[in-house]
Amino acid sequence: MKVAVLGAGGYAGSELLRLLTDHPGVSALWAVRRGEEARSWPQLAAAPASCTLEEAKEADLIFMSGPHGAAQRSAGEFLDAGVSVIDLSADFRLPEEVYAQWYGPHAAPQLQGQAVYGFPELDRAGIAQARLVANPGCYVTAVTLALQPAARAGWIAGEVVVSAASGVSGAGRNRPELSMGELAENFRPYAVTGHRHLPEMERNLKACGYSGPLLFLPHLLPMARGILASISFQPSRQLEEQELFALYQEAYAGESFLRVQQELPETKATLGSNRCDLSLRSDPHSGRVLVFAALDNLVKGAAGQAIQNFNLMCGLPETSGLPRAGLWP
Ligand SMILES: NC(=O)c1ccc[n+]([C@@H]2O[C@H](COP(=O)([O-])OP(=O)(O)OC[C@H]3O[C@@H](n4cnc5c(N)ncnc54)[C@H](OP(=O)(O)O)[C@@H]3O)[C@@H](O)[C@H]2O)c1
Repeated sequence: MKVAVLGAGGYAGSELLRLLTDHPGVSALWAVRRGEEARSWPQLAAAPASCTLEEAKEADLIFMSGPHGAAQRSAGEFLDAGVSVIDLSADFRLPEEVYAQWYGPHAAPQLQGQAVYGFPELDRAGIAQARLVANPGCYVTAVTLALQPAARAGWIAGEVVVSAASGVSGAGRNRPELSMGELAENFRPYAVTGHRHLPEMERNLKACGYSGPLLFLPHLLPMARGILASISFQPSRQLEEQELFALYQEAYAGESFLRVQQELPETKATLGSNRCDLSLRSDPHSGRVLVFAALDNLVKGAAGQAIQNFNLMCGLPETSGLPRAGLWP
């Protein structure tokens, strides 16, 4: 497959290049040039081939990894040219009216009908048929995977509280305010009363059977990558820890990238890998269930999940080109 990456100079785009360079299903890989932007990929063995936006129409598939709004402007012309699209932004994740509420007016409502939400663990069949895929948000991936089995089992009685923290790459590359001087020795919450991932999280949980309240408390961690979500909910009845583990292990038994483990997860074990590590506790003191999820926001939270979708769309093994082992230490 010939593949192009738009937004290749950004963090998620760079991660796409890293993972696609040695992907067995990719015969040609281009980084799309928009103009004279200064871009560098110190992590790659060699700079990738580049092409203009027009030349990218020679590709079979384009990954779009620009800011929100960018894919709405250009996805249509690629689809018309016969090029499939996987977009990493929020552009096609939400219904038009919900998108407008959180981001502003949608510029390509005519494409919404053909966009498929690209969450492999929720809808492999839909993704395999799609030509326009909306890759999920990074926090959303962690929270959905952490709650899906309990929601489907009807075990969440109400009030889900999510306290999550992300490394700074979650905010993109061009954020001078996230400098070493401001981040080091610092830990802070942000967007605590209206993070833009909320509607996507709530929509996913509703589809799994939970539509009660959700409190989402994101924090900024002074590290480059990684997300840890610590979640608690009131169960519909008293649940033994063994029952919880059995439910999650069964729900995710066939999944290549989900690990349900006894030990509490940690971000470092997932860095560079497409894994999401999950663990559970039943807390006798509060009576609440605790679920913990860790993943690499740039891999399972962005580029890796996009490549999982690419594999499904191309009929390749879902694990092609995707590391399951993380970096350690
Ligand atoms: N960072 C994460 O953890 C993460 C996780 C999930 C989803 N996402 C989503 O993925 C997208 C990229 O995120 P990021 O963190 O990689 O951001 P980023 O580091 O700021 O990179 C965005 C890149 O988009 C390109 N770009 C800028 N303006 C553009 C335009 N008008 N049209 C097309 N491309 C444009 C630029 O690349 P060039 O210089 O190569 O043109 C820029 O480097 C965002 O929509 C973000 O919400 C990010």
